[in-house]
Amino acid sequence: MRICAIESSCDETAVAIIEDGKTVLSNVVSSQINVHSKFGGVIPEVASRLHIENISVVLEEALRKANSTMDQIDAIAVTQGPGLIGSLHVGLLAAKTLAWATGKPLIPIHHIAGHIYANAFVDAIEYPLLALVVSGGHTELVYLKEEWSFEILGSTQDDAVGEAYDKVARVLHLSYPGGPAIDKLAKTGQAHYQLPRVKTEEPLNFSFSGLKSAVLQLVQRETKQEREINQTDLAYAFQEAVLGELLRKTKLALEMYDVRHLVLAGGVAANSRLRILINELSTEYPNLKITIPPLWCCTDNAAMIGAAAEVAYRHGIRGNLDISANPGLEYK
Ligand code: KG4
Ligand code: ZN
Repeated sequence: MRICAIESSCDETAVAIIEDGKTVLSNVVSSQINVHSKFGGVIPEVASRLHIENISVVLEEALRKANSTMDQIDAIAVTQGPGLIGSLHVGLLAAKTLAWATGKPLIPIHHIAGHIYANAFVDAIEYPLLALVVSGGHTELVYLKEEWSFEILGSTQDDAVGEAYDKVARVLHLSYPGGPAIDKLAKTGQAHYQLPRVKTEEPLNFSFSGLKSAVLQLVQRETKQEREINQTDLAYAFQEAVLGELLRKTKLALEMYDVRHLVLAGGVAANSRLRILINELSTEYPNLKITIPPLWCCTDNAAMIGAAAEVAYRHGIRGNLDISANPGLEYK
């Protein structure tokens, strides 16, 4: 089963050729970070335009690297949502055109299902599965009692964790995207600043906007009093507060639900400290299988869409040529 997968939900134009859901024949990602970093964040209109410029080139390169022709492809997979409408639209249109021209089946995929199934590249997925989803647009605990059944146990009430990293990075005048910059700074930081703990109404929900505001207020206060900000210590305090929350809620979900396999998913899964903390859970939960996606498939890529598509295909998921991009797509 050879799948040509397309991902264009945000600021990465990506195409991958995946065999049997696990073997990556090619995985081409054209990142727009250099362009968006000038503005300190993704400009949707610019992102759509760059996807239009890049999509054919990226597709051709993915086929060439996989040493594959379209004739050898069995199905076309594409991210249908969630994401930026204009960005999603470009990938979806490319996928529908390919499906129409070749007569191959079209498999619409939920972007976060892709992040979750990226873990299939390193480990056999087992159920019941708990996924801690941490990306620029999502922060949620997703429970899969069985294959391709998604239940959201809790999610963020305001900012996603990656979004909070990016906003705090801006306050600290760090480059975009802020996650990797804060991750690097926090490594040498020390416990010096105190940040408040944010409360949520539902026990498994998250909230990060209060924390982000607390960082902003602290910076304003120190600046007003002409005290210099220790950036590494503030990055450390912010990161420890955020990751502490992620860990606390994950452990709570592990106590409340029957879980065989815990996986990390989304761009923030690249965070070095979070990777250590999740791995350390194995001491506390010796019977729990724990998987962390390799760095190459943490942030947005199309290989993960291909991995999810292989599972979706077996579950009969197909799209016809009428489907449209859906920025608020729900799991199905
Ligand atoms: O999954 P992703 O590539 O795009 C979305 O689906 O949103 O996630 C991007 C997010 C950005 O907010 C970025 O700052 C964050 O992932 N990120 C990190 C790290 N690398 C990327 N956050 C913390 N630490 C990192 N090392
Ligand atoms: Zn993503």
